[in-house]
Amino acid sequence: MTLIDKYGRPLLNLRIAVTPRCNLRCDYCHREGEECSLNKATEEMTVEEIVRIARIAVELGINRIKLTGGEPLMRKDLCEVVKGIAAIPGLKDLSMTTNGSMLAARAQELFACGLRRVNISLPTLNSEVYRKLTEGQIERVLDGVKAAVKAGFQPVKLNMVVLNGVNVDDVHDMMDFARQTGTILQLIELDPVNIDDAYFSVYHNFLDKHEEMLRQKAVKVETRRFMNNRHIYYLPDVTVEVVHPTENGEFCAHCTRLRVTSDGKLKTCLMRNDNLVDILTPMRRGASDEELKELFVRANQLREPYNKTL
Ligand code: 5AD
Ligand code: SF4
Repeated sequence: MTLIDKYGRPLLNLRIAVTPRCNLRCDYCHREGEECSLNKATEEMTVEEIVRIARIAVELGINRIKLTGGEPLMRKDLCEVVKGIAAIPGLKDLSMTTNGSMLAARAQELFACGLRRVNISLPTLNSEVYRKLTEGQIERVLDGVKAAVKAGFQPVKLNMVVLNGVNVDDVHDMMDFARQTGTILQLIELDPVNIDDAYFSVYHNFLDKHEEMLRQKAVKVETRRFMNNRHIYYLPDVTVEVVHPTENGEFCAHCTRLRVTSDGKLKTCLMRNDNLVDILTPMRRGASDEELKELFVRANQLREPYNKTL
């Protein structure tokens, strides 16, 4: 079975924020659209709660799950989460988005637990720019990328949020690095979520010029229908994906995802917090699987394209 929303969009993906905590402070961080801060000392979901939510999602036809945060590796028990989710019958894809700074030491262990793909946030290769942007040390992330490739993750993707005047000119260097490491580069347009208008107007870049450059160099261009119609450019020796949701009706028209916030609420859209469906509280009060499924069905009915320009 697959849940379909009022706009005919199937529900196939779940992004689970396993913690709101993060060891970095990226200027542009959208915090997955959560209203809380990266420091909030809220009680996190337990491994069992996360795995139960994931199992119910898979039983409802969701077959791709991504672990997000905050920074997922802030959790000491992340491997247990991965193990539990990887064992759910019917799941096709389990991945994680990480800042990579704590990945080197745990990449092998995570792979052994059943994680198969990682996206690593890497906005630049310049250590000074990286430090200013994130307060982190780039060497640790580069070690994380190498460790992930070595551990066998396939693919390893590099998430590069492109910012005017900060890293727009680093795209070629990043393409070279992706080529050398055998990773895929994802160029991501800045989302106006949890950042102020002034920041957005200064740093937002539409990525049109980058797409044009990629189109000219590509030997093949693919559009992933169930991945928000994103474009994938296959160059002779490197692959580059472009993600640009802002004011993009195509992006929303092909959205197949639902989120779980770090405090256990089903969130229908990155951009919205006005129609969250709390699943953790009912679960802690003893709700049955059937009752929890109803909450997924309700959240799915609340899904709407945020940009309806189509
Ligand atoms: N706009 C677009 N992407 C963002 N990310 C974080 N904040 C933003 C934003 N404001 C990206 C990071 C990370 C992924 C989870 O989201 O690069 O890799
Ligand atoms: Fe936000 Fe990710 Fe940066 Fe942490 S690493 S501050 S979660 S964008």
